This record gives sequence, C-alpha cells and structure tokens, in this order.
Amino acid sequence: MKDKRCLSELQRRRIQTWFYAIILFAVSTESRNVRLTTWSSKDGSGLEIYGCGTPPPQDPKRCENDWIVNEAWIPSQQEHRSRSPPPPTEGITLTVLNQRTATLIFTKVFPLDQYWARYVDLQWHMDRVASGRVVVITVAVSGTVGLRQAAHQLAQLGSLFALHLTPMAHWTWVFVKGGRTISETVILRGVAQHHAHLLLPLSDLPSPTQSSNQSLQQQRWQYCQLHGAMGGLCDEHSPDPLPPPSPPTLAHQSALANVPVVVTAGARHQYLYHTLNTLLAAPGAQRSNVLVVLGDAPQPTTQLLRLINVNFTQVPVHGKDNFKLFRYYRSVFQLVARTFPDAPAVIFLDEDVEVSPDFFSFMSQTLWLLREDPTLYCINTYSATGLKDRAFHPSRVLRGSLQVSWGYALPLYFIREALSIWPNESSKIYIYDYWMYRDVRRGRECVYPEISRSFHFGVGMNSDAILDEKTFLSKPLLQEAYVDLMRVSDIQIDSWRRQLSQNISHATVLRGNPCSPNFIPSDLSNSHYVFYYRLDKLQENLPNPEQFHHLFNCVYTWTFSEQGLHEGVAIVTLSVRTTLYLVGVPYSSYSYLRPPRLLLWDIDTIPEEEYIIVEKNEINNERFPFRVSNVDMTEEKLTSILSIS
Ligand SMILES: *[C@@H]1O[C@H](CO)[C@@H](O)[C@H](O)[C@H]1NC(C)=O
Ligand SMILES: *[C@@H]1O[C@H](CO)[C@@H](O)[C@H](O)[C@H]1NC(C)=O
Ligand SMILES: *[C@@H]1O[C@H](CO)[C@@H](O)[C@H](O)[C@H]1NC(C)=O
Repeated sequence: MKDKRCLSELQRRRIQTWFYAIILFAVSTESRNVRLTTWSSKDGSGLEIYGCGTPPPQDPKRCENDWIVNEAWIPSQQEHRSRSPPPPTEGITLTVLNQRTATLIFTKVFPLDQYWARYVDLQWHMDRVASGRVVVITVAVSGTVGLRQAAHQLAQLGSLFALHLTPMAHWTWVFVKGGRTISETVILRGVAQHHAHLLLPLSDLPSPTQSSNQSLQQQRWQYCQLHGAMGGLCDEHSPDPLPPPSPPTLAHQSALANVPVVVTAGARHQYLYHTLNTLLAAPGAQRSNVLVVLGDAPQPTTQLLRLINVNFTQVPVHGKDNFKLFRYYRSVFQLVARTFPDAPAVIFLDEDVEVSPDFFSFMSQTLWLLREDPTLYCINTYSATGLKDRAFHPSRVLRGSLQVSWGYALPLYFIREALSIWPNESSKIYIYDYWMYRDVRRGRECVYPEISRSFHFGVGMNSDAILDEKTFLSKPLLQEAYVDLMRVSDIQIDSWRRQLSQNISHATVLRGNPCSPNFIPSDLSNSHYVFYYRLDKLQENLPNPEQFHHLFNCVYTWTFSEQGLHEGVAIVTLSVRTTLYLVGVPYSSYSYLRPPRLLLWDIDTIPEEEYIIVEKNEINNERFPFRVSNVDMTEEKLTSILSIS
C-alpha cells in the first residue's frame, strides 16, 4: 500500500492538519465517532466503516457489532448483452451517510469515465443531498473525464482537488455537505491503490424527529434517517412544506377535470419525489387527479407516496429489460382503460421527468384538439425541435409526426386501439413509445410546444450519452407559467395546411450549400425562408435519413430521426422573427410548391468540394466541444495552484 504516495508536501500537511484537527475535536467534545476507510484505484474503489456508530434506537449505548458497512465498486469481467445496461461500477461513486449514525443512506456510481452528459446526474444528486450529511466520493477505475461542470460544484462545496484532476486520477473525498472536509486524497498519475483512513465524528445535534410532535412530521424525519439525496424533503434547515400546498388554478381549469395524471414509477424514489414535487406545484395541478402506477414497488417508494399523500397502485410486471418495460406499459394502459373509461384524455409522465410551471396550462389549452381533430393522436409537452438557439416563442404550438415523449396526453380511444393490437410475442418487441409510433398511430400526428414544458432529467439510461447531451440537455425547460398559447385552433389540419402552404409559397427561396457560413442571411430581415432538397421515400413511408441528416445538422435542428417532420416539412425557428422551412421533394405533400425550374439540393449529387463543407459543418462545430481538462496537470503545478489560493 502506498498511501498518498504522490501527494505534495503541502497537501499532505493540509490533510494531516485536518486529520489531527478532527481527532482533537473528537476528543475535546467527547463526541462519538466511527472509523472509516475509503480507497480508490484502477481496480475499483471501496468504503468500509467500523465502529459503534449505529446503536439501535432502543438502546443507544449498546454496540450491535463493530462492522457496519462495506461497499466496493469493482467492475465484473462478465460481458453484458442486455439492452438496458447494468448499473455502472466504474466512475465517480457518491455515498451519503447519516451524520448521526453513519448509516449508509444513498449510494450510486456515475459513469463519468464517459465524457458526455452523465455529470448532470451527479450534479442533480449532489444538489439534493441535505446539508449536514456526510458524503464520500471516490473514483472507481476512472471517472474524472466526465466531471465537467460537476467539478465546479464540488469545488464550491470545498473540494481542493476537484478542478485539477487528471483524466486517470484516483481520488477520495470525505466531507460534510455545507461544512468541512474530513479527508481528501489524490493520485494524479500512477496505478497504486491508495487508502484514506480517518475518524468520522458523528453529529450530536438532536434529530428533528425528537422535537416534532406532529405525526406526519415524525414520519418524514424517520424516512429521512434512512434515505439520502431527497432534496427539500429531508432538508432540516428549510424543509419542503408537508403536505405540499395546492397551487393556483387556471383560466381553463375545467379542461383538466376528470383528466387523470398517471405517473409511471418504480424504485428511483429520489427522482420520483422531484418529479411529483414539480408536478404538484405547477398551477392547475390537482392532487386527487394524480395516480402513480408502480411496476416494482419497493418500500421506500410506497412510504414516500404515503408521506406526500399521492394515490398509487401497482401493476404486475414480468420478464426483464425491455420486454419487462413493454409489458409494464401495457399493464398501465390496461389499468387506465379499466379505471378511467370515460376520461376525455389521460396525461402520462415518467418518474424522471420534471415539468414546467406551464405544464398544465399548456395541456388545458390543447387537450380539446384530441377531440376535434382526428389527424392528431397525442399532445406532447416535450418539444421535438426545442433546442437552445432554435426555440423562442413560449406561445407557439406546432404539429408533426412524432412518438409520445416525456409528459404527454392520449385520448382513451387511442389507448384502446393500442391495447387491441399490443403484441404478446417477445419477438416483436420495441420500446413501447416507438412501437405506438410505428404500428398504432397510422399517420396521425402530435401537437408539441416550440419550447419544452418537460425536461427528462433522468438521463443516464440510454447507452448513447452524446445523444442525451444533444437532445435532453440542450432543450431548455420553459420557466414561465400561464402562457397564453397563440391561435391554438390553427393547429387543426385544414388551417394548418392552408397557412403552411401560404407561408412556404411566400417565403424567400434559399439556394446554395446549406452548410456554408453565408447560407442563412445574416440580417434575417425576411420572416420566412424556404429550402427545397431531394428526399425520397423508403419502405414504410419513411424518408431516407441519409438525405436529410446532414442538412438538418447544418441548419442545427433535430437530426437523429425523421420525427418532428410534418408531411416532409421541417420547421426551423432561426430567430424570434424568422422561420426556415425545409421541404423534402418528392417526399413532402408540399413538394408542389417548389418554383418551376428550381434545382433541388441533393446530397448524393453535390460536387466533392461541397460535400467536404457539409461534412465539416464548421458553423456548428463548436456547439458540443470535447475538451478534456487537466491533461497536463502535475503535482508541481497542483502544489503551486493550491499554495496561491
Ligand atoms: C385518489 O384517491 C381518492 C380517494 O380514494 C379518490 O377519490 C380519487 O379518485 C383518486 N384519484 C385517482 C386519480 O385515482
Ligand atoms: C394476446 O393474447 C390474448 C389472450 O391470449 C388475446 O386475446 C389477444 O388477442 C392477443 N393479442 C394479440 C395482438 O395477438
Ligand atoms: C405562418 O406564418 C405566420 C406568420 O409568421 C405564423 O404565425 C404561423 O405560425 C405560420 N404557420 C405555420 C404553419 O408555419
């Protein structure tokens, strides 16, 4: 064991100072403490806690046994082929301990050996750790490349090293959230395993349980003794009100009467609490309309739902991975069809989706379209096109060929249609939302806002992290409430077609290479532009992605699938005043608007030098830069940085 081998003299002194300070503190106040060891290396990381830290509540003096916690994160050699990846064992580990008992109340590994997107989940959890908790962070194998913004958050919380870690650094940090560091160790380079041994003083502050005589509050603090990263629920300094107050009602509140809000959930009670909290706080929310439908129903989830007084029920789940999910959603739909046969529509939300304060207001103004327009089947609150720099109008509503996405409403007749053809065979399994898009909707479209009213914060499930970053993380959530939507009735198919063809036929026609810097006029004085390009039909009526992908990339709009197009037209909002229509000919039903003799831009026939410009896509290169920090960090540099600060 080569403890702290690579630490500079300065760091060693600092850590020793901490170490001694803590022992002195412990002795002088005679506070209880436990022994904690944590380690970090290329083989994994771990945490062991010894001591009489968790006496049973009945007998605070008795020491049950002197081994409390032993957690290790070591990658297995097994190859996993399942669709949903197993929980990671490589990356940054976050462990939260109860400050009074040293009980482990939360642990999760964030795969930050991966550069894209995952750091947001670490930040999200760190934000929800209550102040006063003891936090242990380690690197298992490797996990600093993906820290990114989270490194700043950790530095603000008091980490000396977080901003300076090399991509292969091994690091351990034990601290009190909102308080002091107890131990921090790092090896910037090298393969040695390093351990940090420390005495962890336990808090003697009385728990709020003892000072509260209300039974609901007592239940809350009992829950919080065992669960970490619960945000305001367990924040002893400014706890969320319990039960949460009811939000104001809306001008169109009656549109939401008898519209149940079904939240699909399972074991991730940290996510679920946040989701329900934002949902129940949004103006127009009615607690009695919310029903949580659980697949897995572990006790922490059901206890939480009783605590916050939200209705829940459970449906049976079988199988595993995507097959399990596919069956689960069928059970949810069956339950909904049985329980709410007369509801005008049902709103669905997953446990890891935060909603905008405008969520119910948006729904209340658009739900009626499902009744009036048979060419629609869903209302989405997640915007298909609402990327940062491409979404400007809170009041604008659009329509397109889409799957249901993160916070959506369906009419009952569509739910019954889906159930009537839901496959029993495992051979035909897709993700349920894509299956409905492909096999159930039959050409119908969804309504969606230009700016999202929902945010899928539970990123980390998709194996494709860069896609998460380019989609979920780059679509801002609208923070306003009570937005008056603009001319909602124009969404109905006849007026929509009329207006769209009018807009396209009066638009200024753009020519040239869409990926060259001067393609989009810099003054943007005209309100509408149009660009015609070659787009052919593949099987199943789908457009050829090879023909639109590069173009969409160059004008920076959603490019990863054909979803969001309305009959082959992509609507790209370039600024507050300017819209660009991309019309794919001959695929689009609007192809007839192309001026005679106008040549189509065709990715398959453009000259090589033009194609090079397309592939480079220099206008958008800088949107998602890949910049690994601290590649050149050395002990000498780190020492000098730390001695200046
Ligand atoms: C929630 O429970 C209450 C009381 O049992 C009931 O009146 C209400 O209909 C339930 N709501 C939903 C959406 O299931
Ligand atoms: C699935 O199985 C049930 C019961 O065996 C049957 O009633 C239903 O028609 C089947 N559905 C499909 C799509 O084959
Ligand atoms: C057509 O243009 C008007 C005026 O800019 C705009 O309000 C409307 O949303 C556009 N309609 C479509 C379908 O793009």
